Amino acid sequence: NVVVLDFGSQYTQLIARRVREIGVHSTLLPGDASADRILNEGVGAVILSGGPQSVTQPDAPRCPPGFLALCASSSVPVLGICYGMQLMVDSLGGEVRPSCEDGAEYGRMEVDTAAGATLFAGEGCGGRQTVWMSHGDGVVRLPEGFAAVGTSNQGVIVAVEDPKRRFFGLQYHPEVVHSENGRATLRHFLMGICGLVANWSMQNVLDDQLRRVQSQVGPHAHAICALSGGVDSAVAAALVHRVLGDRLHCVFVDHGLLRYKERERVCEMFSKHLHLSVTIMDRSEQMLARLVGVTDPEAKRKAIGAEFIKAFQDFRDELMQQQEIKPAFLTQGTLYPDVIESCPPPGSGRTHSHTIKSHHNVGGLPKDLQFELIEPLKELFKDEVRQLGRLLDVPEDFIRRHPFPGPGLAVRILGDVTIENKLDELREVDEIFIESIREFGLYDKIWQAFAVFLPIRSVGVQGDQRTLSHVIALRAVTSMDGMTADWYPFEPKFLQTVSSRICNKVRNVNRVVYDVTSKPPGTIEWE
Ligand code: XMP
Repeated sequence: NVVVLDFGSQYTQLIARRVREIGVHSTLLPGDASADRILNEGVGAVILSGGPQSVTQPDAPRCPPGFLALCASSSVPVLGICYGMQLMVDSLGGEVRPSCEDGAEYGRMEVDTAAGATLFAGEGCGGRQTVWMSHGDGVVRLPEGFAAVGTSNQGVIVAVEDPKRRFFGLQYHPEVVHSENGRATLRHFLMGICGLVANWSMQNVLDDQLRRVQSQVGPHAHAICALSGGVDSAVAAALVHRVLGDRLHCVFVDHGLLRYKERERVCEMFSKHLHLSVTIMDRSEQMLARLVGVTDPEAKRKAIGAEFIKAFQDFRDELMQQQEIKPAFLTQGTLYPDVIESCPPPGSGRTHSHTIKSHHNVGGLPKDLQFELIEPLKELFKDEVRQLGRLLDVPEDFIRRHPFPGPGLAVRILGDVTIENKLDELREVDEIFIESIREFGLYDKIWQAFAVFLPIRSVGVQGDQRTLSHVIALRAVTSMDGMTADWYPFEPKFLQTVSSRICNKVRNVNRVVYDVTSKPPGTIEWE
């Protein structure tokens, strides 16, 4: 296992993914995690991530005192990246200084590596190469035992090493694709220097998880699973179903806030392709009744969450009363980004505790439901879940589906969702938008796309008449994990087509706008 210590870089998760792509399991821990915790992870290497702060500042995040010496004495190699390299140099007695303005290096850079450097001894690692740099500080004096083994074309030290203690540092980011030999260098660090073996494959993960579920649940117990129609709960259910067969009981709650024909489409996929037994609970009436007059986004979420929990409890009670089954386990599609404690960059709006959230469909399940959790995806990133889904023969339509939030269209209608047929209008618009995206071959290029119903009317002219009708906003984003996102740059032709289809086909809509806000500062949903 490789522990990646997070000092707040936007690329920290990317480092963990790259390590896994090389075939080695990786765990992310906060930069200030205790030495015991880090070394308890069966660790074969530690990587110190980049970060937005400067080690020259008194409040800069640091490893616990003595941690690096402990790594050296325990023969655990350490690679510092960007801020991580500066932290290493500073902690071991070297010197880092804020670069003067023209010394700061951002973006693509040419660097040269030293012949004979341990860090660049692997195939395709060394030599003159283009790398991706993003830093304002520079190393000006090395700690004892270190040598500079790479310099930029501006003469800045970009790679350092102390092969005896197995400390290595890169000023640039080997994890980003723009760093030409970055992946080869990471691979050489893990395999050549640390001697790790590439044995993390999705097939291994699957075999391992099947064994774990088997031993956790035993031969007789039953489990339940709430399916949302999304890929995570579908893959979790498919995996647990392999072990439990008909001892797994799935429920799909229709809360009346689904997209056009969502319930029919999703249920067909479950029964036809996944062979799961799914109970459909239609709670739309109760849900919409609860939402009457509710306009505050948080209040909406709470109302939906409460109704969802009630449906879930009823499902459990029905199993007990009608079939005399008392399920002891609850399957959840919790992903790794839901459980990692990361150290978000300042200004991102995220805090340490924000990112430690428990995964839930809508509002979180109460503790008194008294289930033991089965969470087979807890160590995986979304793209890994997709790979696992393919191994479990989950159909591609499921695997490639855009995420859909638990509270459904309620977070896409600003204000009261229940009046004036807004839900039907939004469903119609959303269907036109998504079908057009498919028609133009763009569905798989986009992380998520949807329409938002705005609580305003605008003046238009339709069929020679002045109208005062609804305004719809379209949103489409690209993203890696939903934590940050960028708006998708559609061609004007596409926007033109969609806009005229919507205004021509959907009564009461006379204006369409496109959201060009990234996250941050916006969020993906409008709420
Ligand atoms: P935001 O709006 O916070 O959304 O940028 C990030 C991602 O999370 C989805 N989302 C949810 N998913 N339950 C979910 O399962 C929820 O309550 C929820 N709220 C937002 C959102 O669609 C986007 O993909």
